Amino acid sequence: MCGIVGYVGQEECTPILIDGLKHLEYRGYDSAGLAVYNGTQIDILRAEGKLTNLEAALSERPLPGSLGIGHTRWATHGAPSEQNAHPHKAGPVVVVHNGIIENHLTLRQELTAEGRRFQSETDTEIISHLIHRELDRGADLTTAVRGALSSVEGSYAIAVVSETEPDKIVVARHMSPLVLGLGEQAGFVASDVPAILNHTRNMIFLDDGDLAVLTGADVQVMRLDGSLVERPVKRIDWSPAMAEKGGYKHFMLKEIHEQPRAIADTLRGRISLERGEVSLDGFELEKDYLDGLERIVIVACGTSWHAALVGKFWIERQARIAVEIDLASEFRYRNPIINERVLVVAISQSGETADTLAAMQIAKENGARILSICNVVESSIPRMSDYVIYTHAGPEVGVASTKAFVTQLAVLYLFAIYCARVREQLDSRKAAHKLLELIRIPALIEDILKNEEQVKIIAERYHQVSDFLYIGRWINYPIALEGALKLKEISYIHAEGYPAGEMKHGPIALIDEKLPVVAIVTRNRIHDKILSNMEEAQARRATIIALASEGDEEIQNRVRDVVTIPLVEEELEPLLTVIPLQLLAYYVADFKGTDIDQPRNLAKSVTVE
Ligand code: M6R
Repeated sequence: MCGIVGYVGQEECTPILIDGLKHLEYRGYDSAGLAVYNGTQIDILRAEGKLTNLEAALSERPLPGSLGIGHTRWATHGAPSEQNAHPHKAGPVVVVHNGIIENHLTLRQELTAEGRRFQSETDTEIISHLIHRELDRGADLTTAVRGALSSVEGSYAIAVVSETEPDKIVVARHMSPLVLGLGEQAGFVASDVPAILNHTRNMIFLDDGDLAVLTGADVQVMRLDGSLVERPVKRIDWSPAMAEKGGYKHFMLKEIHEQPRAIADTLRGRISLERGEVSLDGFELEKDYLDGLERIVIVACGTSWHAALVGKFWIERQARIAVEIDLASEFRYRNPIINERVLVVAISQSGETADTLAAMQIAKENGARILSICNVVESSIPRMSDYVIYTHAGPEVGVASTKAFVTQLAVLYLFAIYCARVREQLDSRKAAHKLLELIRIPALIEDILKNEEQVKIIAERYHQVSDFLYIGRWINYPIALEGALKLKEISYIHAEGYPAGEMKHGPIALIDEKLPVVAIVTRNRIHDKILSNMEEAQARRATIIALASEGDEEIQNRVRDVVTIPLVEEELEPLLTVIPLQLLAYYVADFKGTDIDQPRNLAKSVTVE
């Protein structure tokens, strides 16, 4: 996830672009850059690190001009560095891009064979070369962009300028956001409304497959085949605070709603349905190595540890490799048995968690290979690993982890299928079926998010209680833990997650009419068991909030507060059951009026022991 911005008009564009990038820094902040037409040529300035570094560079070397584009980066291909920072130039063409080009390796080989030279490791630079090639073949800029995009697979929002037609910006989108702003003799483009809201409130939201040409005088929108289309101009009345969070009250709520997109981005380019295969990020694990493993040990903290618990089910079930889960903060002090026949998997959103790093150090010293699953490219955890699979959730701002969790689950499921295929535990047909179900998840989450109002009503009813109990079994037990953690950290209400079958061994003593019990009672192989556990709680006068599968009338008849999730392959349920629990925690906290994005005593990244 990166941020892009562009301006064409009568004014000096650098301050407008920098202001836009400041509002987009939440989308990425590992490097930033500008390209501005100075009347003769396009000048580019880029800097590694936060936007302040680019501002410092601009004070040394200003970029005068009234047409330009800018970018703030969240690395996906290529390390965060000045060389990989956008904009990228090929001949007269300069491009900024947000998204992932899936076929970049093939295109890079093709373009290199034609004698085109690359300056960066990014997938984006491919686009600038493709456009340059079309210009060399005699196309005008708009036709060149259309031609280039016809060979690109993946997601993109791009803004393109060229020294051959320095009066316009050509933009296009496919599965990455892009909004146009209409000013007085000026045109704007950005990844998101807040970036241009200080300059105009009249916006056009492009659809996937749209391309637009902006000059100071007008805007023309067309489809990639060149046919002109009309898109309505909308007036945006958001306050500045609302704008920063994309219209949501808190980053956490915004990030909950970003989950379908985050999962789709994480799956993109990694699945072949034809072959029933998963490809990892530029590495392979050999059959001999996987067959010879004694076990896999997953180390993580907090929410990432909950993802690991779900991953254990999947890896053991699909790949038949024994998996042990450890809290990184415990692993480091118990002299764990680790050797070269153990694969250690570290899971972390931030990539900087001190306990996880320390656990990895021990694993390394004992000869284990390390694979990390991480959201922040080139952070310390991936740098210490032998292999990395990135989640493509984009920057997570809210302290309570949401979209990072579901993307960790998506990667763990891919990894389980990968290992199962290499170890010949799963044939291509069954694997393809499972992967097809996984691809449906973003749409199913969209459906659950439509029930948000219902969860809000339940949250209002319960926000004043002092304790909650969450129960789940089997694959949903970790989700009970995750639901309880979400509630604790942002609402400050005491909550416990428990495996429902264990209730009778102690915690059932806690139950009375004052204790709400959140029960995950979806339709899977242990449905009847968890149903009896729920009834045991009901018999002791607990108030139940049930999370059930759509169409389960029996539950609807027995419980007043029911939230449903769509039917799905049972092993994928955690990707869905967690969503209402995130919303429940969010709305309970919101009714209580706590500081949801920065709850007391917590930090987003725990870099101390
Ligand atoms: O960045 P990490 O995934 O390594 O962080 C681990 C935990 O600190 C983190 O998941 C924490 O529990 C979250 N606040 C939970 O919402």
